[in-house]
Amino acid sequence: MNEVLEKLGRIGLVPVIKLNSPEEALPLGKALIAGGIPVAEVTFRTDAAAESIKILAKECPELILGAGTVLTTEQADAAAEAGAKYIVTPGFNPHVVAHCQQLGLPVTPGVSSPSQVEQALEMGLNVIKFFPAEQSGGVAMLKALNGPYGGKVSFIPTGGVGPKNLIDYLSCPNVFAVGGSWMVPSDAVKAGDWGRIEALCHEARLLSLGFSLLHVGINPQCECCALDEARMFAAMLGMSFKEGNSSAFVGKSFEFMKAQGRGEKGHIAIETLSVERALEWFSGFGIGVVEETIKRKDGHITVAYLDREVAGFAVHLNRK
Ligand code: 3PG
Repeated sequence: MNEVLEKLGRIGLVPVIKLNSPEEALPLGKALIAGGIPVAEVTFRTDAAAESIKILAKECPELILGAGTVLTTEQADAAAEAGAKYIVTPGFNPHVVAHCQQLGLPVTPGVSSPSQVEQALEMGLNVIKFFPAEQSGGVAMLKALNGPYGGKVSFIPTGGVGPKNLIDYLSCPNVFAVGGSWMVPSDAVKAGDWGRIEALCHEARLLSLGFSLLHVGINPQCECCALDEARMFAAMLGMSFKEGNSSAFVGKSFEFMKAQGRGEKGHIAIETLSVERALEWFSGFGIGVVEETIKRKDGHITVAYLDREVAGFAVHLNRK
């Protein structure tokens, strides 16, 4: 896959932006980056689009900068010239798609039906926008499309997506990222309220990761006492005791290791909607992954340990 799209997928969120004037571009770009979403789809819905893209391309090179609402080949040329790294179109126009491909720019056209999905597949696309998402059947439609096209194409649902349904969309196996204007409300742009945009982006990024505690793993003080401790703890809390090969679980939340496991004291297991996106997020803290611990299923990472302990505890991520 193209590396611009690959990175976009690891962030998983696409703010859809309408700028009134190119002067808004730079402070907005900075707010997106500070809020943890270095992605922008600057739409050609105003005359400020091309100039704004030019400014962002020059001043914020770390932004995954897309041009949105591209309806014509001329707009695609203007976007490319200004420095857009990918193109988004609301509908499926094969001429515009072919033109972007000739320009060497990744393009994610909007589709809302199986016929359009197949046209996109025929043109070699495997990441496409699903637009307008809510109005076109939302999560139920994406689940239905996963039957015939699962593993062949992933979607960027946009239109009516926001904090209330973000998790539902991101939980679909065929969702690559989600887009929307809720992270960049036009009244905030108009008012120059960049702090609000930064906060909305930060909130969306954390919501999209969906972190929650899965269990705590406890290394034994001595190998023979681990099971006794676990049995006693289970009795104290009135929880189940279940012995496995390398550990015993008390309820679902406490894993008593039979031998010294990873981590000085033990480990903490965190669940997330996407281990790939979580790792991208942690890379911002200078934290990486222990490669040999990565487990995969159906093209997704299901388990991976971080390469940094927290207070003596190793941390592993599990896909929800
Ligand atoms: C788009 O162009 O992708 C949509 O207008 C964004 O839709 P939203 O405003 O409902 O997020």
